[in-house]
Amino acid sequence: MNKPLAQDIFVRPPETAGDPQRFQQLLAEETVEVPAFLKPAPPNFGNEDLDVARYTSHAFHRLEAEKLWPKAWQFVAREEEIPRSGDHVVYDIVDRSVIVMRGDDGVIRGFYNSCLHRGRTLRNQSGSAGQLKCPFHGFTWDIQGRFKSKPCSWDFPQLDDAKLDLPQVRVESWAGFVFINFDPDAPTLLEHLGVLPSHFERYLMDRSVSIAHVQRRIACNWKVAQEAFFEAMHTKVTHPGIMTFTGDVDSQYDVFGDHIARAITPMGVVSPNLGGVDDTTTLNDILALSGRMSETDGSRHALPEGMSARKYVGELNRQAYAAAAGADLSDATLAELEDAILYSVFPNFQVWAGYFGNIVYRVIPDGDDQDHCLFDVYLLGRYPAGSACPPAAPLNRLGDDQPFTAAPEIGALGPVFEEDMRNLPYMMKGMRASQRGQVSLASYQESRIRHHHLTLDKYLGLDTAA
Ligand code: FES
Ligand SMILES: [Fe+2]
Repeated sequence: MNKPLAQDIFVRPPETAGDPQRFQQLLAEETVEVPAFLKPAPPNFGNEDLDVARYTSHAFHRLEAEKLWPKAWQFVAREEEIPRSGDHVVYDIVDRSVIVMRGDDGVIRGFYNSCLHRGRTLRNQSGSAGQLKCPFHGFTWDIQGRFKSKPCSWDFPQLDDAKLDLPQVRVESWAGFVFINFDPDAPTLLEHLGVLPSHFERYLMDRSVSIAHVQRRIACNWKVAQEAFFEAMHTKVTHPGIMTFTGDVDSQYDVFGDHIARAITPMGVVSPNLGGVDDTTTLNDILALSGRMSETDGSRHALPEGMSARKYVGELNRQAYAAAAGADLSDATLAELEDAILYSVFPNFQVWAGYFGNIVYRVIPDGDDQDHCLFDVYLLGRYPAGSACPPAAPLNRLGDDQPFTAAPEIGALGPVFEEDMRNLPYMMKGMRASQRGQVSLASYQESRIRHHHLTLDKYLGLDTAA
């Protein structure tokens, strides 16, 4: 993006800007009741350095393969991506592979993607199937995983057909997000999600639908990509073009137990890193460049006398989002209509709060390679009450060298993502080149990264304090 700043806009000295109280001050100006969950839940984790080997070493990656992924709740698909019986996605995570499939009864199940004869994968890619027939010798199951037939049955006296149903992994859903867990003893998904469902109750998630889904392979460890969205402090240098409408270093950071964390970045306000920005510039820049506002047609808007850009944009969004969902949003705060309220669910799922245009991120390792990951972005829209759920957006899988700007369905988010992506491979190179062998984190603004590693340590058995 790197839009040249207007002549009279200036960049302030970097050391002093930023006020974590700013978002609460903005909430105090709201004219409707503010939901209690927007109050701060401040993190407090100290400020020790992290070892770069957590990102770069194959041994650490194998520890995650052994102790994290077999135990973690992991997002695999949106329900509307597999609307009909037989529809399925193949989900690969390091060495493991799962078929997540909708049965004739409408139930979504997860099957280990491994034939009970000699182990071939039953499906190699997502799609639709009337049965699960192994392409090697033809052992066959129905779409609910019940054993149907095998060739030369007389030659398998040791196999009891009654015990040949496909082994399953746990599948649970929240708000249209389908998760799996390999661990039969794990807490339920709802227990894992903690406060999250209650914080999203206002956002009509039962009428949410995927309106964009883009995936790209990235040359970095999965945590490097995940953590690129954990703080807004990088805005000034990585995304200078959005500073006229982004309260980057005024963000509030919150933690809710081991698995849930949040960043709230005020929008429709000027970065404290900038001076000389008038409200009309803020207004027109946010509409054109944020990629998240309802009005992006390029027309120039004029602010009514006495109205702030934040209020104007919030009201535009209120009307558009209410129309999309067929809902009355008169009690929505400006914060919920425009701010960047981004939740993370350990280990690798992130979802933006709000009534429309929720951005969703998922990052998984690309097979057994700690240096590459698959990064999925979804956008969620809403559909009116009483209407059928529209079809999910098809997956747009970009080539390794294709930029996010090649995905028109994510609009102005593409250039912003691309700015993030440009750091990621160089994070890996720089960490490998590090003489110090450590990364340092800001105590507050990068607390979600520390939180992520503290929880990871609990899964990996590295939490020596316990
Ligand atoms: S490996 Fe599947 S039928 Fe033989
Ligand atoms: Fe970014």
